[in-house]
Amino acid sequence: MSGNKTTELVGDVDPELTDRVTGLLEQIETRLAQAAVADADFVTQAAQHIINAGGKRFRPLLVVLAAQLGAAEDDETIRAALVMELTHVASLYHDDVMDEAELRRGAPSANQRWDNTVAILVGDFLFAQASSIVATLGTDFVALQARTFARLVQGQIAETQGASADEDPLAHYLQVVADKTGSLIAASTEFGGMVAGLGAPELGALAAYGEEIGVVFQLSDDIIDIASETSGKTPGTDLRAGVPTLPTLLLRAANDPADARLIALLDADLSDDADLAEALGLLRAHRVMDEAREVIRQRAEVARAHLAPLPDGPAKDALATLCDAVISRSA
Ligand code: IPE
Ligand code: IPE
Ligand code: MG
Ligand code: MG
Repeated sequence: MSGNKTTELVGDVDPELTDRVTGLLEQIETRLAQAAVADADFVTQAAQHIINAGGKRFRPLLVVLAAQLGAAEDDETIRAALVMELTHVASLYHDDVMDEAELRRGAPSANQRWDNTVAILVGDFLFAQASSIVATLGTDFVALQARTFARLVQGQIAETQGASADEDPLAHYLQVVADKTGSLIAASTEFGGMVAGLGAPELGALAAYGEEIGVVFQLSDDIIDIASETSGKTPGTDLRAGVPTLPTLLLRAANDPADARLIALLDADLSDDADLAEALGLLRAHRVMDEAREVIRQRAEVARAHLAPLPDGPAKDALATLCDAVISRSA
């Protein structure tokens, strides 16, 4: 699931749908690069930097798939997908400043390649470009994008604040994930349904599905950080950075004296490779990994159940297949 090929994510159950979706995603690629063109060459270069570095294009894929549930016009579908990916990329420029990240999509992050000021302003520029495009779709689209970005930003702020003393850390974490990641993925499926001309009950179902699959997608990343040797990222990056993840939150919530050594390691500085390897070894063998996988499996089924009110057909089947893909990437 690391590439952006449609068939890797949704299988190839319906070749006609796959061809259609692939064709639209190709047009979106061209239009994304065009949307990043600014008056000054330097701004264009900095704005295209992370767009050209790749990415799964998960949000455009969801817009395009949901749009196939009804009679969507191709250019509207493309514009809706552009708005979602540009909003996402803008948030990545800002996120990398917050997280002091050095790499994004395998390329140096904008803050690393240039500096924080450039990264912040280019993020703002891309958000402005998303706003210009969403204005062409209508006020319903503008209102949803604005609500979504407000939620995403509040999720990012809540993450930096951390759980307060009277809050359950696991509940806080799940709320942060829903707000910072689920919200934009929910808006993507809803945008698709809106261009398809679906009614309020279908749009509600699509938003609920998108939010849940977005959360599950992020939670499966937590498992991959610990379990995978082949993700293309260094295992234990979250552990070393002290970032809470589903397995470590479940471990802490269980408060079992038998876990004292592992918790002490997680609480300490894991900059030493031997300490990190020991923590990873203990965690990989721990029952919380299977508990976390069970949460993912259950929530992916919740996502799938939200699809029930949608019209039957290959697009709905593809959205259901995505639930299996998210389960199997962390299995
Ligand atoms: C990364 O999103 C940031 C999150 C909200 C988790 P993706 O995992 O979709 O990143 P790209 O777009 O493929 O780079
Ligand atoms: C990014 O979250 C979320 C947004 C950009 C809104 P993370 O900080 O957890 O994601 P990565 O690991 O940088 O992609
Ligand atoms: Mg980050
Ligand atoms: Mg972050």
